[in-house]
Amino acid sequence: LPVVALISGSGTNLQALIDAQLRGAPFRLAAVISNRADALGLERARRHDIPTRVLSHRDYSDRESFDSKLAELIDAFTPGLVVLAGFMRILTAGFVDRYQGRMMNIHPSLLPKFRGLHTHQRAIDAGEAEHGASVHFVTAELDGGPVILQARVPVQPDDDAESLAARVLEREHLLYPTAVSWFAEGRLQLGEDGHPHLDARP
Ligand code: GRF
Repeated sequence: LPVVALISGSGTNLQALIDAQLRGAPFRLAAVISNRADALGLERARRHDIPTRVLSHRDYSDRESFDSKLAELIDAFTPGLVVLAGFMRILTAGFVDRYQGRMMNIHPSLLPKFRGLHTHQRAIDAGEAEHGASVHFVTAELDGGPVILQARVPVQPDDDAESLAARVLEREHLLYPTAVSWFAEGRLQLGEDGHPHLDARP
């Protein structure tokens, strides 16, 4: 299954997907698109001869025009799935609709808790005993789409945002390749009822 990944930063989740592909996972990264030219993830892609594109949001006066150019870049690779891997832009409803049921995001919290930014610090401040990460289908509501898969980690008494983020990230690197593989195998769909459906292994 051809997959296009959207990134903005270091791309460690992208790296986990690349590593899974190298180990024979049933998907192929067809392209990596970043809204920042200096995203380290672009370097990871280049190292593995994955085509890259940069689309700077600063060159666009509004979200609609940025998103329509982004869709054009994505569609040139005819992906079966779009994965957001640390892509730090809010997407328009039109863009989200276009990829309905074929776009996923990974978010560093146990959704529906802690949508948005600074999730690790917020989990610590809230006195949570557990924190984690979620993979979900993308819907118009930010970090609000139907959850496919979650991983939980304990919050330790001496954690700061950084130590907790590192513990969560380790789990993210297992979650994302798993969810993308399920989708690529045709075992996972977003149902008409708005819930993810996972078939038993054939
Ligand atoms: C991850 O924590 C992911 O959950 C969030 O952004 C971060 C991206 O990290 N959406 P990386 O670029 O994959 O290293």
